Amino acid sequence: MAEQTFSPGLAGVIAGETEVACVDQGQLLYRGYPIEELAQKSTFEEVAYLLIYGDLPNDSQLQAIKASLDKYRPLDAALVDALRTIPKDTAMMDVLRSMVSYAGHFDPTSGDDSDAYRERAVWLTAQIAGIIAARFRFLNGHEPLDPKPGLSHAAQILYQAHGEEPDALAERIIDLTLVLYAEHDFNASTFTARVICSTLSDMVSAIVGGIGALKGPLHGGANEAAMEMLEQFKTQEEATAWIADALENKGKIMGFGHRVYKNGDHRAVILEGELRKLAEQKGQQNWMAIYDAIKEPMVNDKKIYPNVDYPCGLTYYLMGLPLDLYTPLFVASRVTGWCAHFIEQAADNRIYRPLSIYTGEAKRPVKG
Ligand code: SDX
Repeated sequence: MAEQTFSPGLAGVIAGETEVACVDQGQLLYRGYPIEELAQKSTFEEVAYLLIYGDLPNDSQLQAIKASLDKYRPLDAALVDALRTIPKDTAMMDVLRSMVSYAGHFDPTSGDDSDAYRERAVWLTAQIAGIIAARFRFLNGHEPLDPKPGLSHAAQILYQAHGEEPDALAERIIDLTLVLYAEHDFNASTFTARVICSTLSDMVSAIVGGIGALKGPLHGGANEAAMEMLEQFKTQEEATAWIADALENKGKIMGFGHRVYKNGDHRAVILEGELRKLAEQKGQQNWMAIYDAIKEPMVNDKKIYPNVDYPCGLTYYLMGLPLDLYTPLFVASRVTGWCAHFIEQAADNRIYRPLSIYTGEAKRPVKG
């Protein structure tokens, strides 16, 4: 009989083994590769291949996954028609939840072995990017654009959303955020996907579950919530006054803290460096003064550090992206990690079924 331990939120509980990522205060590895090196040397397509197939691709494997992504980009006409009917004030994360589920009815891949799952993972990665861009076009009064074969995944998303190819800086920054967001072991949305997989349910159901979990502001929704917080401020002084009051009232500051990283998120350090350069290039250092006005008391007084979502929100904002796109871009990346974990769980499965401590009414008879 396994030892019984009770830990709220499963904090500190080991729920499984994984080869996909190592997440601890000392390092973040995707299948053994340090995130710092992947961020510098690898594109999202290479990282997607690494997570889904188990190693970094050689040239022909990289060309093959790029060709598969292009092959799977077109959205079914029925899906586009359904997308058109969704009310304009529906959050993009809710659109994604519905449309990924709907796309599943047109899944061109077949089979339920690891190879089939890998193909489905590439198809989902292509479709999610296309759904986000098509919805963005509808919201701006335009028809969706056909994919442009040959563009990188990051450039494709921006091209299909804006109608023009991005400059090199925008493509690189989006690609970097996709690399940083791709995988993070047993976080809430990945664990959700693994639980769904563990009942022998299907990959699309697992990804839809992951989307539902990631939406929450305590998880992926924090990149939007963090920017909503920053957007209130015109000056660094306003931010300083606000954070002092918020901490006084024990408020939760979005974009800070982490269950595993208690001395800082490796990804936040990497992205913040790029953010500072971006702000300088765009002459928006005023935003960095506001950013630092919130960060400094959190780090210096509370010893609570930024997680990846804090720099990411302002990064996307400085790139002119609407807040409603931020967490969906997180999905566009994390779908690769979710699928990698689905494949791993399916290959060596035991259904997840934790216990609970009953604290309800004592046994009592039904009257009459
Ligand atoms: C992601 O798990 C992953 O790997 C997730 C992720 C991934 O890549 O998948 O890294 C992505 O979700 C990043 C986290 C994004 N969420 C936020 O930024 C929301 C704000 N953060 C907090 O809600 C919190 O830090 C969590 C949810 C991230 C972590 O929650 P924990 O581990 O349960 O920590 P906790 O809430 O128990 O906090 C411990 C203490 C508490 O103080 P006490 O109540 O015990 O006195 O630290 C305080 C908290 O109040 N604290 C915060 C805080 N985070 C923790 N206080 C103010 N603001 C915060 N952000």
